[in-house]
Order: sequence, then C-alpha cells, then structure tokens
Amino acid sequence: MKPVKVGICGLGTVGGGTFNVLKRNAEEIARRAGRGIEVAQIATRQPNPKCDTTGTPVTDDVFDVINNPEIDIVVELIGGYTLARELVLRAIDNGKHVVTANKALIAVHGNELFAKAREKGVIVAFEASVAGGIPVIKAIREGLAGNRINWVAGIINGTGNFILTEMREKGRAFADVLKEAQALGYAEADPTFDVEGIDAAHKLTILASIAFGIPLQFDKAYTEGIGQLTTADVNYAEALGYRIKHLGVARRTEAGIELRVHPTLIPADRLIANVNGVMNAVMVNGDAVGSTLYYGAGAGMEPTASAVVADLVDVARALTTDPHNRVPHLAFQPDSLSDHPI
Ligand code: HSE
Repeated sequence: MKPVKVGICGLGTVGGGTFNVLKRNAEEIARRAGRGIEVAQIATRQPNPKCDTTGTPVTDDVFDVINNPEIDIVVELIGGYTLARELVLRAIDNGKHVVTANKALIAVHGNELFAKAREKGVIVAFEASVAGGIPVIKAIREGLAGNRINWVAGIINGTGNFILTEMREKGRAFADVLKEAQALGYAEADPTFDVEGIDAAHKLTILASIAFGIPLQFDKAYTEGIGQLTTADVNYAEALGYRIKHLGVARRTEAGIELRVHPTLIPADRLIANVNGVMNAVMVNGDAVGSTLYYGAGAGMEPTASAVVADLVDVARALTTDPHNRVPHLAFQPDSLSDHPI
C-alpha cells in the first residue's frame, strides 16, 4: 500500500519532535499504521537545528502545504487561534485530514471545526492537545467507552507543575523557574496561558467534551492560575502536610457539568500530590471501571510528538479498508521472537 503523505506546519518544539519521531521510528510506525507515513512537505519560517530535513521539501508558507494535492494529512503545529483556525478550515475544505496539538484552537473553535470536518468527511485528531504524551483522550474515548464518566481530575499543565515543584523542592523564585520552563520548550508562546490557568482550562474543556459528550464550552470553565502563589504559600502548605497542585476538575453535578481549574491543597501522601516537575496525571472515574489514573510527561518535544504520531497512525488506519487494520489486534512481525527468550 502507498504511504500516507503528511505535511507538517510548524517545525518548532512539537513539529521538530514529530518529524524526528516519524523518521526514527518509521518502520514500527508503518507496521502499526498498516502503511508508511511519509513527510511530503514542511512549512516553517526557520529551520530547527534539531532536525535534519535533507530530502524533505520545505516552504515558508503554510498554505503551500494546505494546497499541496499530494498531501493527505495536515499536521497543524503553529499554535495560536487565528492563523491556525484559517489554516485548519482551509485544509478541511481541501479534503485533508488534520492532526493538531493546538488546545487553544480546539477548545475555542473546535465546535466549528468538527462540524466542518463532518460535512467534508475528514478527521480532525487532537490527542496531543491534552496532557502531552499521555494518551488520555484515547483512554477515555476507547478504553472507557463502556462507562458513564462521573468525573475527570488532574494536573494538566506541565509548566505550572514544574514551577510549583521547583519552588517547593529548591525554594526557587517563580519567575526564574518560568524562564527555565520556557527554555525547555514547556511553556506556551504566551506563558500567561500557563500561569493564569488558561492552558489548563483549554485542556479541561476538551477532556470534558470527550468524557461527557458535551459541546466544547471554554467560556464556562472557572479559571484561576498559580500567578498569585508565593514560595511562602508553598512552604506553609508543606508544613501543614499538604502540597499545592494546580488541578483541572470536570464533574457531573445535579445542575450540570462543572468545569474548574485552580490551585488545590492535597494531602502530601496522595498519589497526585507526588506528581512532580513537568509530569501530568489525570484521574478518570467511570461507573463501571471506578477510578483510573494516567501519568506521564505533560509537555516537551518528543512526549508531545508521541501523541501527534499516534494520531497520524490512527488516521492512516482509518483510511484503509482492511477491518483488521482499522481495529488493530496484535500488529506483529513474523519471526520477530528470539529463540532464546529472556
Ligand atoms: N504549556 C503546556 C504545558 C504545553 O506546560 O503543559 C503542553 O500542552
């Protein structure tokens, strides 16, 4: 089968990671997708020194990718609301499937984008938009598909958790840690999104929509960040046997679904209180399964790329007509077992 052709828009932290993972793990990815996944074009204004793009066409105009008839899937990794929205709408109009890590775009314009995608018969996939490398959207949508979800709660901003952890463990100043989070590629282009809870509210909006089957309603989320917290607050909490964690909570109430994002005091011996640094953790409670917990890197180059590539594999599978490939069972290579099991 011919490889599926991908155009990557944006070669920054996540775009660069996606390109590198697709290249490095091409064989495994092709086996799981049932066909190769090939980067046919990249749009970027500046090269990424961490990527060797030799042999891949590069343009500085994202619309070259959208209009490229060779491309089946557009990967939107430019971030932001306005240009990203236009780009995705035009990609859909051109009959292209879209994979994005852009939580702001999905949380705020998702209802419009999904309606358009449905009309045009294309897929918009967004696993990387929530909790970086943790496949929590797939877990709720697929693994917990038989449940009535009662609540979802977790640490869903890596930058904020990194800041709170460094303040507590090393007594570092807020601004100093934020600078480091930016240098490490964790923070948003506008870091007030991380600090003021907006990024977490975007992600919670998306999780709630998947978990409860409701439209995306970012404007209904109560949003409070960590910008007012000082090292003294963090230390007092510690002295009282608590940790301050910035949580996103979505739960059923009698009045409807409640969405809230704010700093929370958690007893220091709880699992979620011990999720440190850039790590995220999301708990999901379903009526059949009870409570489940998903943990992993919530931001960063390759963890987020891992989720983008998983979506590419999903879309590639959806495009095949082989039912075994659509719902994969064991994607194995014959003769791949050693004669000498460990
Ligand atoms: N700025 C985000 C975070 C990036 O720190 O969690 C990943 O979504």
